[in-house]
Amino acid sequence: MENLDQIVGEARSAFAATSDPDVLEQVKARFLGKSGRITELLKGMGKLPPEEKKSAGAAINRVKEAVEAALNERREDIRKAALEARLAEEALDVTLPGRAEYRGGVHPVTRTLERIEALFRSIGFDVADGPEIEEDFFNFTALNTPEDHPARSMHDTFYLLNPDGNVADRVLLRTHTSPIQARYMQAHVARYGQLEKIPEIRIIAPGRVYRVDSDATHSPMFHQVEGLWVGEGVSFADLKGVIADFLKSFFESDDLKVRFRPSFFPFTEPSAEIDVAFMSGKLEGRWLEIAGCGMVHPNVLRIAGIDPERYTGFAFGFGPDRLTMLRYGVNDLRLFFEGDLRFLRQFA
Ligand code: PHE
Repeated sequence: MENLDQIVGEARSAFAATSDPDVLEQVKARFLGKSGRITELLKGMGKLPPEEKKSAGAAINRVKEAVEAALNERREDIRKAALEARLAEEALDVTLPGRAEYRGGVHPVTRTLERIEALFRSIGFDVADGPEIEEDFFNFTALNTPEDHPARSMHDTFYLLNPDGNVADRVLLRTHTSPIQARYMQAHVARYGQLEKIPEIRIIAPGRVYRVDSDATHSPMFHQVEGLWVGEGVSFADLKGVIADFLKSFFESDDLKVRFRPSFFPFTEPSAEIDVAFMSGKLEGRWLEIAGCGMVHPNVLRIAGIDPERYTGFAFGFGPDRLTMLRYGVNDLRLFFEGDLRFLRQFA
């Protein structure tokens, strides 16, 4: 008779060799099945002499029980291992910090525009709008800009192509917000031109403008805020007062100087650049150019149908991107338009 203890050992290691419950049942058959090793032993007992049968039977039964116990133990181990694997796989780490929902924020330039609008509304300005794809007439001609002006050149201005690939006649991406002046005055005259006296025009017009220009302080798309005040007796002194007050409110400081430096624009006469200098901080004492302005040129009023002998006005064009850079201390304009949330969230 074979070594019974050896069978138990073999069964144990055969069970241990698999972790698949189906395979385990097949391995079980090799020992306990119809023609399994233990069953064969039991069958073989018939051939033993009667006096040996009792002790042999008891010994085989012990082996059978030991094998069954080993089997059950292995079944349990496999079941536990499967459960643990599943638990590990489906584990929830409740100590992980949650994923926060980020609230969107207002873009810093939009913030500036809203601020500018609020400040000008408080002194009676309306907010006007105009198309970004503009007609040559409003962008240049109505603004007294001659045919040979450099702004009209292909190097400076984005023209549009027709489907046939040729440059479209008379349409372009506006190079400034000044065409809104021309449009607004024209519409105003169409509406009120019959009146004995036309009502004052007092508007600002914020928007995107486009030029072929790109470096740390120029972007091919940038923003401007146009301003226009036309009425009887509007003077350069009014322009200076409005601008100086606006800048002090915008920067929340009386500690700044504003200067008007003679300049040239085809649509204003006289014209000036507006420079600002802060009296404290990093930029202390440095003059920074932030706007163009001037008295609306008589030709511009005339083209719009307004009598320049009776009405006068001033106009200005601010760079709100530049104002935003100064207000928040940003040194590269391009950061505003790259859409990098690490930058933008700082203003949210
Ligand atoms: N449109 C001018 C520019 O883009 C700025 C300007 C506006 C100047 C209004 C005078 C009056 O440079």
